[in-house]
Amino acid sequence: MKIIGGSASNRLSEALSTELGCELMDREIKRFPDGEVYVRIKGDVKDEDVIIVQTTYPDANIIELMALQDAVTDDIGNGRLITVIPYFGYSRQDKKFNPGEAITARAMIRHLELYSDAMVLVDLHAPAILNWAKKAKTVEAYATKAIAQYMKDKDINFILSPDKGAIARAKRLADYMGLPSDYLEKTRIDGSTVKMKPKNLDVSGASVLIVDDIIATGNTIIRATEQLKNSGAQKVYAACTHGLYTGGAIPKLEAVLDGLYSSDTIESSTSRYSVASPVSESIKELLERWD
Ligand code: R5P
Repeated sequence: MKIIGGSASNRLSEALSTELGCELMDREIKRFPDGEVYVRIKGDVKDEDVIIVQTTYPDANIIELMALQDAVTDDIGNGRLITVIPYFGYSRQDKKFNPGEAITARAMIRHLELYSDAMVLVDLHAPAILNWAKKAKTVEAYATKAIAQYMKDKDINFILSPDKGAIARAKRLADYMGLPSDYLEKTRIDGSTVKMKPKNLDVSGASVLIVDDIIATGNTIIRATEQLKNSGAQKVYAACTHGLYTGGAIPKLEAVLDGLYSSDTIESSTSRYSVASPVSESIKELLERWD
């Protein structure tokens, strides 16, 4: 088995090659003067199982992934191609919010599965999007254990989900850490505005960890932090899987939080834990159960 890392997932592909004990292949990725991408795989993939790792954000990384898939498919022979998408861009456009809209998550799944025998995605915003894959096997890996391990020395007493839809993630983390959990009721007004329904949380004097799949503008976490502080929380931390951090979100968040952490699905200054272990477990399970 061999691994090829896209340029959006360098650190994770290295960690994954260590976890799986397989070769990280050399490749050349560059941009032409007009911005178009050029990729070349250096080495032999004939009859090998090949894992390509590439986050599909921002948009240029989607084309890069398609180019890597194309290069591998030509030479792979009887090998299998497993596409690992650590952060799956467009996961939040998973339905028509207004008539006439594209369901972009579906378009992404349909295109990226074309060359893949299997796809591994991490902490999906809406796991049901995997049902759109008709050809490739799919599996979702979770950052939960990695977050729990990283946070275990921080004396956390309470886990909070900033919205009702993410309760399962918060509950899973709370169970790993042996802690109570609760959720807030969030209404999204537009892409950058959210409102939280006031709620009395039992967090007086507590150190609370807010957990979310994505932090984008940071406004969800900022509003949730206000609620926690109003309820008497002493310390508030936030941990997410995918730190998108749009529009200068990191300094805004660091101004109100006691700690801000994300995984290596999107590499940033807050990346503290790796999803290499859960992704490698998912790959091993896939290969064991392959029919
Ligand atoms: C949405 O439901 C997601 O789980 C996140 O809560 C959301 O994407 C965070 O966005 P923002 O940081 O812009 O509030």
